Amino acid sequence: MEFERAEQLLTEIKEAKPQNTEELEAFRIKYLGSKNIIKPLFSLMGKIDPQLRKDYGLMLNKVKTTAEEKYRQLKIELADEQQTESRKGIDLTAPPPPSHKGSRHPVDIVMNRVIRIFSKIGFALAEDREIEDDWHNFTAMNTPEDHPARDMQDTYYLRDFKNLLLRTHTSSVQARVMTSQKPPIRIIAPGRVYRNETISARSHCQFHQVEGLYIDKNVSFADLKQTLLYYAREMYGPDAKIRLRPSYFPFTEPSAEVDVYWGLESETDHRITKGTGWLEIMGCGMVDPQVLTNCGIDPEVYSGFAFGMGIERQALLTYRIEDIRWLFENDIRFLRQFHSAI
Ligand code: DAH
Repeated sequence: MEFERAEQLLTEIKEAKPQNTEELEAFRIKYLGSKNIIKPLFSLMGKIDPQLRKDYGLMLNKVKTTAEEKYRQLKIELADEQQTESRKGIDLTAPPPPSHKGSRHPVDIVMNRVIRIFSKIGFALAEDREIEDDWHNFTAMNTPEDHPARDMQDTYYLRDFKNLLLRTHTSSVQARVMTSQKPPIRIIAPGRVYRNETISARSHCQFHQVEGLYIDKNVSFADLKQTLLYYAREMYGPDAKIRLRPSYFPFTEPSAEVDVYWGLESETDHRITKGTGWLEIMGCGMVDPQVLTNCGIDPEVYSGFAFGMGIERQALLTYRIEDIRWLFENDIRFLRQFHSAI
């Protein structure tokens, strides 16, 4: 009687033909679910003649494994069928949808343009570390421990390394280069810098600068001005205007801040330039003789100029982006809009 029932179930399972996922699920519940119909047969074990119990057990196991195997098989077949079904109606000769190629980050585009402009007049690329020591970032640049100018730049120090910090400006590369190369020196140093600043639409705790340094005999302020004008015209077109405002930096004397005239054509221009049309893009000056001395260069023989420009601001201007935070969010929808060959 029990054997017959098991035999019957086995045939039933073998002959079952679920046609779709719902029927397959019904199959699973019936034969493999927690209340499946094979289970009660196991509890009849006690009623079976002891001599036949082993065979009965084997039989029931066979019923169970057959159901499992069949379910696995049917599942694969149905999935295959569904896939073929969904492929029907697809035109295999149609061109594929456009794939998105990566695009350059606006900061990268602007930085590469700056590098290229200066390389055309002989400035070599000098890259250096972002984790810098106090000497190269401050002391060599004429900003000793108690110098008030240190307050100008809120610094991130490395907690467990007394002398190490995240560089606050690319001017640290000036010290790296001057202590390892002999004049004439003509370098451009791009890179990321960090300052402990509140993040807002106009400032961020990380940003990019490009530093320039030119040391030779008889370098004058006129050379500096001419170089900057050349830069502005290459970057912003032949009509670009710049103005230099006297300023103060510990590592240059005299020092100036450089504004580029952007004009006031759109709302965004007003906002970015605070309604003046002028935007400050860099600091510059003649390298302070003390800095040369600190780095082992004789100020009696050599002179030089230096400048350090912010990249984000120029990217905001170029692409009329209103908020600097967009540059660091990595939002694909924003980034996809930028194209450049370099
Ligand atoms: N390091 C300055 C800053 O981050 C910018 C700067 C000013 C760099 C004058 C220079 C320079 O090389 O000569 O604010």
